[in-house]
Parts: sequence; structure tokens; C-alpha cells
Amino acid sequence: MKLFKEINSIHQFLASEKRENKQIGFVPTMGALHNGHLSLIKKSKAENELTVCSIFINPTQFNNKEDLEKYPRTIENDIKLLIESGCDVLFHPEVNEIYTENETPQTGNYGNLTHVLEGKFRPGHFDGVITIVKKLFHIVEPDNVYFGQKDFQQCAVINEMIVRNHFKLKMNICNTMREIDGLAMSSRNIRLTKDERIAAKAIPSTLHYIKNNIEKVSITEVLQTATKQLLSSSDLIKIEYLEIVNAITLEQMDQFDIETPAVALIAAYCGNVRLIDNIILTD
Ligand code: PAF
Repeated sequence: MKLFKEINSIHQFLASEKRENKQIGFVPTMGALHNGHLSLIKKSKAENELTVCSIFINPTQFNNKEDLEKYPRTIENDIKLLIESGCDVLFHPEVNEIYTENETPQTGNYGNLTHVLEGKFRPGHFDGVITIVKKLFHIVEPDNVYFGQKDFQQCAVINEMIVRNHFKLKMNICNTMREIDGLAMSSRNIRLTKDERIAAKAIPSTLHYIKNNIEKVSITEVLQTATKQLLSSSDLIKIEYLEIVNAITLEQMDQFDIETPAVALIAAYCGNVRLIDNIILTD
């Protein structure tokens, strides 16, 4: 695997690969790689001649300094996993390679997409995500990009950014990889204590409860019961949001009907660790 830390050198390398008409698949990450990331690498390898992964803990998408400081950093193990998975190129730049001094992300108005759910609880988060993903797309110029459905709202925002910026690439949203008890794989899971890890499995169970009951009772009722059940499952869990929204516009829904794509999304603290997950209700 080739490792690049500078934009010029990866750009030069990829330009020569493109001259040979190689199709490029790209998996952007912030490291602390787990099987969810590796499944994206695997898919990219199956569908492209060259797979590029980036590891960059993007400071501008953290609205909370402590969250940024505590974000797991496991670069040596990440490199090992990427080599084992057959990834061709790793881009692992320093912050000053990506951002000029005092650069503040500016992205324009993405309306509802960036203001609800994660956007409401993490102000500025999506400005940081849009800014870095756009920069990375310009650097790598991929044909295919791969993201996990766990970050459902992030995928919706990036889809819109791709359309607005006329990027000629295909967005591939891949199924969330889960642990045996259903917990969505996440880089943050390694920060859970043993008790928190046990408590966390109630999060996917809550989403399944919603999916199993959404056609039987009203949205308000299903959300009320789901919230009660989750909170009573453990004192360690605090819910930030649990909502059912239109899967395209992310607008809240008053009524469920099987014709309108809908998704239930949750963000909850398990101890000090913030976890997100979602389930599509209409597939
Ligand atoms: O999903 C992530 O890991 C990050 O938000 C991303 C897309 C790599 C941008 O920093």
C-alpha cells in the first residue's frame, strides 16, 4: 500500500493511474478502523481498479473540543488493517496540509438537511463535513465513493453536495455493519466501558421495536413507547433525539404511510459516549 501525506504527491500519483484509465474507488474515514470501514474497502476493491482510503480526523466537524481530543487515534493498527484488506493507497495528511490558518468552513445553505437531527445538536458539524469531503473529492477525483448508512444524515447531505458541485462520481451507500447483538459498528464503541457496551445494545432494539410497530399505532405513540422502553433499559442511556423523518427531505412526519420513504434515527449517550443509529422503515 502506498502512503501519501501531501496533496501534490497523491495527486501526481493518481493522475498517472488515471492516464491508464483506472477506475478509482474512495473511502474517506477518520481512522479507528473497524469492520464497517473494511467492508467499504472490500466493496470498493470489488468495483474499482484502485482503492484509496483517507484517514483524517477533521477538526472542523467537531463542535466540541473534548470530543475531538477523545476521538480514538489508532493509526498503526489502521495501516495494518488497510494493508491486510488490500487497500492500494492511504492518504493521511496533517491538518495544515488541508486547511490554511484560520480557515473557517463555508458551505452555503443546505436548509433542513443540515439543521435538523445531528445539525441541531452539533451546530456547524455539517459545515465541517461538507468542507472536508469536498476538498477530498477534489484531491482524489474518484469515480466511486463509499459511505456507511449508519451516518444516514451525512449521506443525505453529501448527496446534495455532490449534485450542487457537479461532481462526476457515484455515491455508494452501504449497509451498516453490526456486532452480533445488533450494535452498529462505530469508532466510538471502543470508548464504551463493559457496562455501557451491554446497555448500548438497547439502541438497535429500540429501532427494531419502531419498525415492527410503526404500522400498528400512530408515530407519536410508537415514539413515546420506544423512548420509555429505551430509558428504562438502563440508567446509562440518555436520548438526544429519536425521530421518524422523511428519508429524502429529513422533515418530521406526522403520519406513516408505506408509500413515503421513512427512517427512524437516534442519537443517544451511553455513559459519556455519543452513539447514532437508524433504521429504514419502508423497505
Ligand atoms: O464519516 C466520517 O468518518 C467523516 O464524517 C468523514 C466523511 C470521513 C469526513 O470527515
